[in-house]
Amino acid sequence: MNIRDDNVLRELNLFPLWVRRGTPVADAPEASAPVAETQAACRLGGGEADTQQPAMGIVEPVLSPVEGLNPSRVDTLNWEELKQTVHDCTACKLRAGCTQTVFGVGDENADWLFVGEGPGADEDAQGEPFVGQAGKLLDNMLAAIKLKRGNNVYIANIVKCRPPSNRNPEPDEIATCMPYLQQQIALIKPKLIVALGKVAATSLLGREATLGSLRGTVHDLKGTPLIVTYHPAYLLRSPAEKAKAWQDLCFAVQRMTE
Ligand code: URA
Repeated sequence: MNIRDDNVLRELNLFPLWVRRGTPVADAPEASAPVAETQAACRLGGGEADTQQPAMGIVEPVLSPVEGLNPSRVDTLNWEELKQTVHDCTACKLRAGCTQTVFGVGDENADWLFVGEGPGADEDAQGEPFVGQAGKLLDNMLAAIKLKRGNNVYIANIVKCRPPSNRNPEPDEIATCMPYLQQQIALIKPKLIVALGKVAATSLLGREATLGSLRGTVHDLKGTPLIVTYHPAYLLRSPAEKAKAWQDLCFAVQRMTE
C-alpha cells in the first residue's frame, strides 16, 4: 500500500488496517483501476467491517420511483436537450433562490452512478455536484475503491437547484425534479446506483424508510441495482460511521463484480 492509499483509508477513519489472515495484500493500484483491483482494496480496511457485515444479496421487488409532477416528455430527451431543459427549468420554487442549476458531472457511459441530495453553497457557486467538503470526502471514498470522478463514474443529485439554507428538498420539489434524474439514469444506463443518504435513497425508491434498514441490500430500481450508503456530509459530522460506509462500498464493489 502506498502513502496515498494510506491517506485515503486514514481519511475514511479505517486505521488501524485489518487484513484477513492468509489474504495476500498487494500494493494498492492507482485510481480507476479495473474492478478486480477495487476488490483487492476492499480486503483492506477496519476490523469493524468484518464484524458488522450487512445482510447481503437480498433483492427486493421492483419499486416505483416517485412519479414526477411534470415529466413533459423529459423521457424522450437526449443529453444536450436534457441539459438545456434543466438549465432553463423554473418548474419549482427552488430555482428562484439558487444561483444556477447543477446538472451532474462525469462519464455519461459510466457503470457507477452516485446520487446525492442536492447542491450546497459550493455546488451552487461552481455548478458541479459535490465540490465542497462533502465532495472531498466523496472523492476519497471513490479513491478507496479505485474509482475517480469522471472516469466510469457519474455524480448527480436528486434536485438540481440548491435548497435554501441547505434544508432538505421538499416532496413537491423532489417530484418535480425526479424526471430529470430518471432520464439521466436512462441515458447513462449505469450498472449500479449508489444512493448517498436517506433523501437520495427514499426519493429514488419511492418509500419512507430508515437509512439503516436500506443498507446492505441490493434494491431493484426498475431493473437497475441500487445500494444505499451514508451521505458524505453525515460522515463528516459522524466520523465513527465511516467504517460502515466502507462496508457499503465493499458491498457495492462485490455487487458490481457479480
Ligand atoms: N450534498 C449533496 O447531496 N450534493 C452535492 O452536490 C453536495 C452536497
